[in-house]
Amino acid sequence: KPRVLSGIQPTAESFHLGNYLGALRQWVTLQDTHDAFYMVVDLHAITAGHDPQALRRRTRASAAQLLAIGLDPARCTLFVQSQVPEHTQLAWVMSAITGFGEASRMTQFKDKSAKQERASVGLFTYPILQAADILLYDTDQVPVGEDQRQHLELTRDLAGRFNKTFGKTFRLPEPYIPKETAKIGDLQEPGAKMSKSNSVPAGIIELRDTPKSAAKKIRGAVTDTGREIVFDEENKPGVSNLLSIYSVLADTPIPELEARYEGKGYGDFKGDLAEVVVEFITPIAARTEEYLADTAELDKILTEGAHRARAVATATLADVYDKVGFAQPV
Ligand code: TYM
Repeated sequence: KPRVLSGIQPTAESFHLGNYLGALRQWVTLQDTHDAFYMVVDLHAITAGHDPQALRRRTRASAAQLLAIGLDPARCTLFVQSQVPEHTQLAWVMSAITGFGEASRMTQFKDKSAKQERASVGLFTYPILQAADILLYDTDQVPVGEDQRQHLELTRDLAGRFNKTFGKTFRLPEPYIPKETAKIGDLQEPGAKMSKSNSVPAGIIELRDTPKSAAKKIRGAVTDTGREIVFDEENKPGVSNLLSIYSVLADTPIPELEARYEGKGYGDFKGDLAEVVVEFITPIAARTEEYLADTAELDKILTEGAHRARAVATATLADVYDKVGFAQPV
């Protein structure tokens, strides 16, 4: 089976619909066709300032949500990044072959650092750690949203450079980014992506939102001028974003939705979508609470995942250490 790997940061109490539609939904389907490795990237989550207690809680909440949406530890390897020390070790080696200018071109770093008073070096080298995450596992495909594409290009560049310099070691991973859900928009500002750090609360639907709050956010979503419910990203970004969300969650093609709402108003459309969204998130939120009620069991799943991940990661790292000429392991 080809291998997939992906990661998500535990930087909030809840994932949002952008995370789910852009990436996590693909994680679930790929478990059946691929040898799948999925991780909660807590090492990445400390690069922009954090609270230790919140990090520990959110790491577990993240794992619980991943199980709640349908990841199955019997069919995939689910683990926490910091429990596999090889990630940090490989990141150091990769940082030595990354150009300073090359790293400086990462747009996510530029965006995030512009908003901070003192951006950390960790935020700057974040994409190198991400490259290490991927390369440790001989990954074929990486299911992510559009905003991660540049980091995946860097990963491929670094892998190719390492192979050329030290001999064939890494597989070059491909992004897996379905177009329809590559970038889910903010409900209040549909041109911008739905984002943990940038969106106002009314702009994002959280998987752990209460039904009331989620419905209110959908009904309050910004729609465009005109009355037609048609998919037109350029002129109707708000309606188009809602149609994309509706289409995936209700498993109904967009043209069918357009036909269903012909001659009807935004109110009907948003009212129905609110119901679809509430029906979708309610069981996920409930299952998340169930997993969180038994942290011993949750931690056991993650420990087993870390052991499985390490079995792969240690072998790759040993090969890398040998290729770069480090002294024999003691
Ligand atoms: P993170 O935690 O910011 O986001 C997790 C995933 O959600 C996707 N995403 C979206 N997709 C569509 N529309 C949106 N509005 C939207 N918002 C978020 C992201 O693209 C991502 O796939 N750097 C990564 C974490 C990471 C990683 C890795 C990913 C660390 N190591 C190795 C893949 C492989 C990140 O910050 O994701």
